[in-house]
Amino acid sequence: MSSTQPFPNVHLLAQSKQLLGLYTIIRDKETKRSDFIFYSDRIIRLLVEEGLNHLPVTPKTITTDTKQKFEGVSFLGKICGVSIVRAGESMEQGLRDCCRSVRIGKILIQRDEETALPKLFYEKLPDDIADRYVFLLDPMLATGGSAIMATEVLIQRGVLPERIFFLNLICSKEGIDNYHAKFPDVRIVTGAVDAGLDENKYLMPGLGDFGDRYYCI
Ligand code: URA
Repeated sequence: MSSTQPFPNVHLLAQSKQLLGLYTIIRDKETKRSDFIFYSDRIIRLLVEEGLNHLPVTPKTITTDTKQKFEGVSFLGKICGVSIVRAGESMEQGLRDCCRSVRIGKILIQRDEETALPKLFYEKLPDDIADRYVFLLDPMLATGGSAIMATEVLIQRGVLPERIFFLNLICSKEGIDNYHAKFPDVRIVTGAVDAGLDENKYLMPGLGDFGDRYYCI
């Protein structure tokens, strides 16, 4: 895993054959829902582990059962998740699998029918969110509209941009540019960067509507 060039602050999972195989399954329109969920969950788990890798640690020495000293580390800092409803909720379990009893807030943003712009409908966030590292969860970064609005909400609540990690399965280049034009210090953790968007703002090649494929179809 490394930061991608020319996208500073985008941390792309190592493009291993395993990962390529997982994306091949979830991008395939013939993949049935149970497999879509299973293989998406595997990628989500990798994204969460990668996000956790960026959190601070402090040195810690312990004694093993063989009475040897081991120079390790101990995790520092409190985290929470914030999912962008509905598709982002699919990533909550992956976070819980790694961080037991983690607090998870929710933000609902939908297109305003009159203006066609994203509109904030609902937010429920941990009271002490400003003291936490925040994993913002949304599987697809297309134009960046919802993610930008969600991040604005977090910052209004006192979260520092450098304490936010935006986890998603696929980004568009346009989405990264739009998002980082506003929030250059937020780290994006992703597994794929797609070339573009179609006329309906779907990622290309993408995988279709993530929420529909995970929850409905
Ligand atoms: N949301 C999706 O579910 N898919 C896209 O391609 C873009 C946004």
